[in-house]
Amino acid sequence: MSKGLFISLEGIDGSGKTTLIQHLNRVLEGYPLVNIREPGGTAISEKIREILLNVDNHQITPRTEAFLYAAARSQVVEQLIRPSLEQGKIVLADRYLDSTIAYQGYGRGVDLEFLHTLNYLCTAGTLPDATILLDLEPALGEARRHGKADRLEKEGREFQARVRQGYLQLARQEAERFHVIDASRAFDDVAHDAVEYLQKILVSRGWKPDAG
Ligand code: TMP
Repeated sequence: MSKGLFISLEGIDGSGKTTLIQHLNRVLEGYPLVNIREPGGTAISEKIREILLNVDNHQITPRTEAFLYAAARSQVVEQLIRPSLEQGKIVLADRYLDSTIAYQGYGRGVDLEFLHTLNYLCTAGTLPDATILLDLEPALGEARRHGKADRLEKEGREFQARVRQGYLQLARQEAERFHVIDASRAFDDVAHDAVEYLQKILVSRGWKPDAG
């Protein structure tokens, strides 16, 4: 078993994960923290990210898309996540394997059993200790997004609504691992909820501030 702590953050596009992660980084100052984002987190995975999010690549089939996310994940798990956990670090992941179930499974309709197998293969069974799900209505997520929409964001509101339902289904199935936060509230309330939850986990695992 690893000595570290693995926390993932999930949610539809525009749910506020990135802002929350910035806040959690300030709160966790003094801890041995490693941030990753998916797809990405290593040079190879970032190259795969470019393929996945490029709007010109509309020919990618849903299964190919799933394989590409899995390839990016396999690299970051082997190169960064597992070594960091073995060194006793806290890994904070902006998306992880649940995104594949929610987006490729519930969003695109790829067979869920196939995706669970794929996730198992590309993670070698490395699961987060806890997952924070920022739950939000797609219309609100759309309003909060800025910049040009990437290939997945271009899929629209109905797609995001299926993704959201997928996440909620996962959270019901794995209630122990998931902590669902209503992300439609003011950021301070969302952040307060997330920090409280995180601190509970840290204490239950015997971590102290500056524990190293
Ligand atoms: P980001 O915008 O949160 O960085 O995520 C990139 C996009 O990739 C986002 O629209 C969600 C999508 N995605 C999947 O469809 N499947 C996955 O397995 C992952 C990790 C992300």
